[in-house]
Amino acid sequence: MNTFPAVRLRRLRRTASLRALLDAPLPGPGRFLWPVFVTKGRGVREPIDAMPGQCRMSPDVLLRELEPVAVSGVGGILVFGLAGEREKDAKGAGAFNERGAVQQAVTQVKRAFPELTVFTDVCVCAYTRHGHCGPLDSGGGVDNDAALAVLAKTALSHAAAGADGVAPSAMMDGQVAAIRSALDGGGFTGTIIMSYSTKFASAMYGPFRDAEKSAPKAGDRKGYQASYANERLALRESQLDILEGADILMVKPALFYLDILAKLRAQTDLPIAAYNVSGEYSMLIATAKRGWGDLRSMVRESTSAIARAGADIIISYWANRYKELFT
Ligand code: PBG
Ligand code: ZN
Repeated sequence: MNTFPAVRLRRLRRTASLRALLDAPLPGPGRFLWPVFVTKGRGVREPIDAMPGQCRMSPDVLLRELEPVAVSGVGGILVFGLAGEREKDAKGAGAFNERGAVQQAVTQVKRAFPELTVFTDVCVCAYTRHGHCGPLDSGGGVDNDAALAVLAKTALSHAAAGADGVAPSAMMDGQVAAIRSALDGGGFTGTIIMSYSTKFASAMYGPFRDAEKSAPKAGDRKGYQASYANERLALRESQLDILEGADILMVKPALFYLDILAKLRAQTDLPIAAYNVSGEYSMLIATAKRGWGDLRSMVRESTSAIARAGADIIISYWANRYKELFT
Protein backbone atom coordinates (compact mmCIF):
# COMPACT_ATOMS: atom_id res chain seq x y z
CA MET A 1 0.00 0.00 0.00
CA ASN A 2 1.80 3.09 -1.20
CA THR A 3 0.43 5.54 1.22
CA PHE A 4 0.57 6.52 4.86
CA PRO A 5 1.49 4.97 7.24
CA ALA A 6 3.87 2.84 5.13
CA VAL A 7 4.94 5.90 3.19
CA ARG A 8 6.30 8.80 5.19
CA LEU A 9 7.68 11.70 3.16
CA ARG A 10 9.32 13.26 6.18
CA ARG A 11 11.94 10.47 6.03
CA LEU A 12 13.48 12.16 3.02
CA ARG A 13 14.02 15.48 4.70
CA ARG A 14 14.81 14.38 8.22
CA THR A 15 18.40 15.66 8.35
CA ALA A 16 20.35 18.45 6.76
CA SER A 17 22.54 15.87 5.07
CA LEU A 18 19.55 14.10 3.49
CA ARG A 19 18.19 17.41 2.29
CA ALA A 20 21.55 18.27 0.78
CA LEU A 21 21.57 14.94 -1.05
CA LEU A 22 18.16 15.54 -2.58
CA ASP A 23 17.70 19.29 -2.95
CA ALA A 24 18.45 21.29 -6.08
CA PRO A 25 21.40 23.57 -5.36
CA LEU A 26 21.02 27.34 -5.33
CA PRO A 27 22.03 28.81 -8.67
CA GLY A 28 25.77 29.43 -8.79
CA PRO A 29 27.24 32.94 -9.13
CA GLY A 30 27.97 32.38 -12.81
CA ARG A 31 24.27 32.57 -13.57
CA PHE A 32 23.91 36.08 -12.15
CA LEU A 33 24.10 39.42 -13.88
CA TRP A 34 24.43 42.46 -11.62
CA PRO A 35 22.62 45.60 -12.87
CA VAL A 36 24.76 48.70 -12.39
CA PHE A 37 24.05 52.42 -12.77
CA VAL A 38 26.81 54.46 -14.32
CA THR A 39 27.19 58.18 -14.52
CA LYS A 40 29.82 60.52 -15.91
CA GLY A 41 32.71 61.84 -13.91
CA ARG A 42 35.27 60.51 -11.48
CA GLY A 43 34.96 59.37 -7.91
CA VAL A 44 31.17 59.44 -7.99
CA ARG A 45 29.54 56.96 -5.62
CA GLU A 46 26.02 58.07 -4.84
CA PRO A 47 23.94 55.66 -2.75
CA ILE A 48 20.45 55.15 -4.17
CA ASP A 49 17.88 56.00 -1.53
CA ALA A 50 15.21 53.61 -2.71
CA MET A 51 17.65 50.73 -3.25
CA PRO A 52 19.88 50.33 -0.19
CA GLY A 53 23.11 48.59 -1.18
CA GLN A 54 23.12 50.00 -4.73
CA CYS A 55 24.86 53.16 -5.98
CA ARG A 56 25.17 55.39 -8.95
CA MET A 57 28.83 55.16 -9.93
CA SER A 58 31.27 56.78 -12.29
CA PRO A 59 33.26 54.28 -14.38
CA ASP A 60 36.35 54.39 -12.11
CA VAL A 61 34.27 53.60 -9.03
CA LEU A 62 32.49 50.84 -10.90
CA LEU A 63 35.85 49.20 -11.60
CA ARG A 64 36.66 49.32 -7.91
CA GLU A 65 33.30 47.91 -6.85
CA LEU A 66 33.52 45.15 -9.45
CA GLU A 67 36.70 43.70 -8.03
CA PRO A 68 35.07 41.60 -5.24
CA VAL A 69 32.07 40.86 -7.44
CA ALA A 70 34.30 39.37 -10.12
CA VAL A 71 36.23 37.41 -7.51
CA SER A 72 32.96 35.93 -6.21
CA GLY A 73 32.38 34.45 -9.67
CA VAL A 74 29.36 36.51 -10.72
CA GLY A 75 28.79 36.07 -14.46
CA GLY A 76 28.62 39.67 -15.50
CA ILE A 77 26.84 42.99 -15.40
CA LEU A 78 23.96 44.79 -17.05
CA VAL A 79 24.88 48.44 -17.50
CA PHE A 80 22.40 51.31 -17.20
CA GLY A 81 23.37 54.88 -17.99
CA LEU A 82 22.33 58.04 -16.22
CA ALA A 83 22.07 61.41 -17.86
CA GLY A 84 21.95 64.85 -16.27
CA GLU A 85 19.04 67.13 -17.21
CA ARG A 86 21.31 69.00 -19.63
CA GLU A 87 22.12 65.83 -21.54
CA LYS A 88 18.47 64.99 -22.14
CA ASP A 89 16.55 65.93 -25.26
CA ALA A 90 13.30 65.02 -27.02
CA LYS A 91 14.50 61.85 -28.70
CA GLY A 92 17.22 60.54 -26.40
CA ALA A 93 20.29 61.16 -28.55
CA GLY A 94 22.46 61.05 -25.43
CA ALA A 95 21.95 57.28 -25.42
CA PHE A 96 24.21 56.83 -28.43
CA ASN A 97 26.88 59.35 -27.52
CA GLU A 98 30.07 57.38 -28.06
CA ARG A 99 31.69 59.24 -25.16
CA GLY A 100 28.71 58.58 -22.89
CA ALA A 101 29.02 57.04 -19.44
CA VAL A 102 27.80 53.62 -20.60
CA GLN A 103 30.13 53.46 -23.57
CA GLN A 104 33.11 54.48 -21.44
CA ALA A 105 32.24 52.13 -18.63
CA VAL A 106 31.83 49.18 -21.00
CA THR A 107 35.23 49.69 -22.59
CA GLN A 108 36.93 50.07 -19.22
CA VAL A 109 35.20 47.08 -17.64
CA LYS A 110 36.04 44.80 -20.57
CA ARG A 111 39.67 45.92 -20.35
CA ALA A 112 39.93 45.36 -16.59
CA PHE A 113 37.70 42.26 -16.33
CA PRO A 114 37.71 40.47 -19.67
CA GLU A 115 36.17 37.41 -18.02
CA LEU A 116 32.99 39.30 -17.03
CA THR A 117 30.14 39.27 -19.54
CA VAL A 118 28.94 42.79 -20.18
CA PHE A 119 25.40 43.51 -21.30
CA THR A 120 23.99 46.99 -21.78
CA ASP A 121 20.45 48.18 -21.39
CA VAL A 122 19.25 49.72 -24.65
CA CYS A 123 16.55 52.30 -24.04
CA VAL A 124 16.18 56.06 -24.05
CA CYS A 125 13.95 56.85 -21.06
CA ALA A 126 16.96 58.06 -19.04
CA TYR A 127 17.94 60.33 -21.97
CA THR A 128 14.62 61.91 -22.94
CA ARG A 129 13.28 64.98 -21.17
CA HIS A 130 9.77 63.49 -21.16
CA GLY A 131 11.04 60.21 -19.73
CA HIS A 132 9.41 57.89 -22.27
CA CYS A 133 11.19 55.03 -24.02
CA GLY A 134 11.21 56.67 -27.46
CA PRO A 135 10.52 60.00 -29.18
CA LEU A 136 6.93 61.24 -28.96
CA ASP A 137 4.62 61.64 -31.93
CA SER A 138 2.30 64.60 -32.45
CA GLY A 139 -0.39 62.93 -30.35
CA GLY A 140 1.93 62.56 -27.37
CA GLY A 141 2.31 58.79 -27.76
CA VAL A 142 5.66 57.10 -28.34
CA ASP A 143 6.52 56.99 -32.04
CA ASN A 144 7.42 53.32 -32.47
CA ASP A 145 9.23 53.51 -35.78
CA ALA A 146 11.16 56.66 -34.91
CA ALA A 147 12.27 54.93 -31.72
CA LEU A 148 13.73 52.02 -33.71
CA ALA A 149 16.37 54.19 -35.33
CA VAL A 150 17.49 55.62 -31.98
CA LEU A 151 17.56 52.18 -30.34
CA ALA A 152 19.56 50.70 -33.22
CA LYS A 153 22.14 53.51 -33.02
CA THR A 154 22.37 53.07 -29.27
CA ALA A 155 22.92 49.32 -29.54
CA LEU A 156 25.57 49.89 -32.18
CA SER A 157 27.44 52.35 -29.95
CA HIS A 158 27.41 49.82 -27.10
CA ALA A 159 28.71 47.07 -29.37
CA ALA A 160 31.43 49.38 -30.63
CA ALA A 161 32.43 50.08 -27.03
CA GLY A 162 32.92 46.35 -26.55
CA ALA A 163 29.69 45.04 -25.03
CA ASP A 164 29.23 41.29 -25.27
CA GLY A 165 25.51 41.80 -25.62
CA VAL A 166 22.80 44.42 -25.80
CA ALA A 167 19.50 44.24 -23.97
CA PRO A 168 16.73 46.30 -25.58
CA SER A 169 14.11 47.22 -22.97
CA ALA A 170 11.94 49.81 -24.72
CA MET A 171 9.18 47.36 -25.79
CA MET A 172 8.95 48.88 -29.27
CA ASP A 173 7.61 46.58 -31.99
CA GLY A 174 10.41 45.50 -34.30
CA GLN A 175 13.25 46.59 -32.01
CA VAL A 176 15.04 43.25 -32.06
CA ALA A 177 15.02 43.03 -35.86
CA ALA A 178 16.13 46.66 -36.19
CA ILE A 179 18.99 46.14 -33.75
CA ARG A 180 20.10 42.84 -35.30
CA SER A 181 20.26 44.41 -38.71
CA ALA A 182 22.18 47.44 -37.43
CA LEU A 183 24.65 45.24 -35.55
CA ASP A 184 25.21 42.94 -38.51
CA GLY A 185 25.55 45.93 -40.82
CA GLY A 186 28.24 47.31 -38.52
CA GLY A 187 30.13 44.03 -38.48
CA PHE A 188 29.00 43.09 -34.96
CA THR A 189 27.66 39.69 -35.91
CA GLY A 190 28.93 38.24 -32.63
CA THR A 191 27.06 40.67 -30.38
CA ILE A 192 24.27 38.97 -28.46
CA ILE A 193 20.76 40.36 -28.22
CA MET A 194 19.17 39.64 -24.88
CA SER A 195 15.71 41.00 -25.46
CA TYR A 196 13.49 42.20 -22.65
CA SER A 197 10.96 40.15 -24.57
CA THR A 198 8.10 39.92 -22.09
CA LYS A 199 8.36 43.08 -20.02
CA PHE A 200 5.31 44.09 -18.08
CA ALA A 201 4.03 47.58 -17.27
CA SER A 202 4.74 46.97 -13.61
CA ALA A 203 4.37 48.94 -10.42
CA MET A 204 7.60 47.32 -9.23
CA TYR A 205 9.99 49.61 -11.17
CA GLY A 206 9.60 52.54 -8.76
CA PRO A 207 12.97 52.32 -6.99
CA PHE A 208 14.75 51.91 -10.35
CA ARG A 209 13.14 55.03 -11.76
CA ASP A 210 14.33 56.87 -8.70
CA ALA A 211 17.84 55.50 -9.30
CA GLU A 212 17.77 56.36 -12.98
CA LYS A 213 15.72 59.56 -12.81
CA SER A 214 13.80 58.01 -15.68
CA ALA A 215 10.17 58.17 -14.59
CA PRO A 216 7.85 59.48 -17.33
CA LYS A 217 7.02 63.15 -16.71
CA ALA A 218 3.45 62.52 -17.88
CA GLY A 219 1.44 59.40 -18.46
CA ASP A 220 2.68 55.85 -18.00
CA ARG A 221 4.23 53.04 -20.04
CA LYS A 222 1.06 50.97 -20.47
CA GLY A 223 0.89 51.82 -24.17
CA TYR A 224 4.08 49.90 -24.87
CA GLN A 225 4.89 47.58 -21.96
CA ALA A 226 2.81 44.40 -21.63
CA SER A 227 -0.34 44.24 -19.55
CA TYR A 228 -0.25 41.79 -16.67
CA ALA A 229 -3.88 41.05 -17.34
CA ASN A 230 -3.30 39.80 -20.90
CA GLU A 231 -1.14 36.74 -20.64
CA ARG A 232 -1.38 35.61 -24.25
CA LEU A 233 -0.38 38.98 -25.66
CA ALA A 234 2.52 39.02 -23.21
CA LEU A 235 3.74 35.62 -24.39
CA ARG A 236 3.39 36.65 -28.05
CA GLU A 237 5.90 39.41 -27.29
CA SER A 238 8.51 36.75 -26.63
CA GLN A 239 7.46 34.62 -29.60
CA LEU A 240 7.82 37.58 -31.93
CA ASP A 241 11.25 38.39 -30.54
CA ILE A 242 12.33 34.83 -31.29
CA LEU A 243 11.27 35.35 -34.91
CA GLU A 244 13.14 38.67 -35.01
CA GLY A 245 16.35 36.97 -33.97
CA ALA A 246 16.68 37.40 -30.21
CA ASP A 247 19.41 35.18 -28.75
CA ILE A 248 18.13 35.31 -25.17
CA LEU A 249 14.62 36.07 -23.95
CA MET A 250 13.64 37.76 -20.71
CA VAL A 251 10.72 37.88 -18.35
CA LYS A 252 10.49 40.98 -16.21
CA PRO A 253 9.64 41.36 -13.34
CA ALA A 254 10.54 37.88 -12.12
CA LEU A 255 8.82 37.11 -8.82
CA PHE A 256 5.38 38.43 -9.73
CA TYR A 257 5.55 36.54 -13.04
CA LEU A 258 6.87 33.07 -12.25
CA ASP A 259 3.89 31.54 -14.06
CA ILE A 260 4.79 33.41 -17.23
CA LEU A 261 8.41 32.35 -16.85
CA ALA A 262 7.40 28.69 -16.49
CA LYS A 263 5.09 28.90 -19.49
CA LEU A 264 7.72 30.52 -21.66
CA ARG A 265 10.20 27.84 -20.51
CA ALA A 266 7.81 25.21 -21.87
CA GLN A 267 7.43 27.06 -25.18
CA THR A 268 11.04 27.57 -26.18
CA ASP A 269 14.55 26.20 -26.06
CA LEU A 270 16.09 29.68 -26.17
CA PRO A 271 17.88 30.74 -23.00
CA ILE A 272 15.67 32.78 -20.69
CA ALA A 273 16.74 35.53 -18.31
CA ALA A 274 14.54 36.65 -15.42
CA TYR A 275 14.86 40.19 -14.07
CA ASN A 276 14.39 40.33 -10.32
CA VAL A 277 13.49 44.02 -10.42
CA SER A 278 14.10 46.95 -8.10
CA GLY A 279 10.72 46.80 -6.35
CA GLU A 280 11.20 43.12 -5.61
CA TYR A 281 14.64 43.91 -4.20
CA SER A 282 13.64 46.87 -2.06
CA MET A 283 10.55 45.07 -0.78
CA LEU A 284 12.69 42.39 0.88
CA ILE A 285 15.14 44.94 2.23
CA ALA A 286 12.33 46.98 3.76
CA THR A 287 10.78 43.87 5.30
CA ALA A 288 14.10 42.79 6.79
CA LYS A 289 14.80 46.30 8.12
CA ARG A 290 11.57 46.29 10.06
CA GLY A 291 12.44 42.93 11.53
CA TRP A 292 9.63 41.15 9.72
CA GLY A 293 11.81 38.62 7.92
CA ASP A 294 15.37 37.41 7.62
CA LEU A 295 17.00 38.87 4.53
CA ARG A 296 19.31 35.98 3.70
CA SER A 297 16.50 33.44 3.97
CA MET A 298 14.08 35.52 1.91
CA VAL A 299 16.68 36.14 -0.78
CA ARG A 300 17.59 32.47 -1.03
CA GLU A 301 13.98 31.32 -1.15
CA SER A 302 12.89 33.85 -3.78
CA THR A 303 15.97 33.34 -5.94
CA SER A 304 15.51 29.59 -5.79
CA ALA A 305 11.93 30.11 -7.02
CA ILE A 306 13.18 32.07 -10.03
CA ALA A 307 15.60 29.28 -10.94
CA ARG A 308 12.95 26.60 -10.38
CA ALA A 309 10.50 28.38 -12.66
CA GLY A 310 12.99 28.03 -15.49
CA ALA A 311 15.35 31.00 -15.63
CA ASP A 312 18.85 30.36 -16.95
CA ILE A 313 20.16 33.85 -16.23
CA ILE A 314 19.15 35.72 -13.10
CA ILE A 315 19.45 39.49 -13.29
CA SER A 316 19.57 40.54 -9.68
CA TYR A 317 20.68 43.33 -7.39
CA TRP A 318 21.66 40.64 -4.89
CA ALA A 319 24.56 39.70 -7.16
CA ASN A 320 27.05 42.09 -5.55
CA ARG A 321 26.44 40.30 -2.24
CA TYR A 322 26.54 36.79 -3.69
CA LYS A 323 29.06 35.42 -1.22
CA GLU A 324 27.29 36.74 1.84
CA LEU A 325 23.78 35.78 0.76
CA PHE A 326 24.21 32.52 -1.13
CA THR A 327 27.18 30.69 0.30
C1 PBG B 1 13.78 51.21 -18.76
C2 PBG B 1 13.94 50.14 -17.73
C3 PBG B 1 13.21 49.99 -16.55
C4 PBG B 1 13.77 48.91 -15.87
C5 PBG B 1 14.79 48.40 -16.67
N1 PBG B 1 14.88 49.17 -17.83
C6 PBG B 1 12.15 50.81 -15.99
C7 PBG B 1 10.92 51.06 -16.76
O1 PBG B 1 10.63 50.38 -17.75
O2 PBG B 1 10.24 52.00 -16.37
C8 PBG B 1 13.32 48.41 -14.53
C9 PBG B 1 14.36 47.71 -13.72
C10 PBG B 1 14.05 47.58 -12.28
O3 PBG B 1 12.99 48.01 -11.78
O4 PBG B 1 14.91 47.02 -11.57
N2 PBG B 1 13.24 50.86 -19.97
ZN1 ZN C 1 12.87 52.81 -21.16
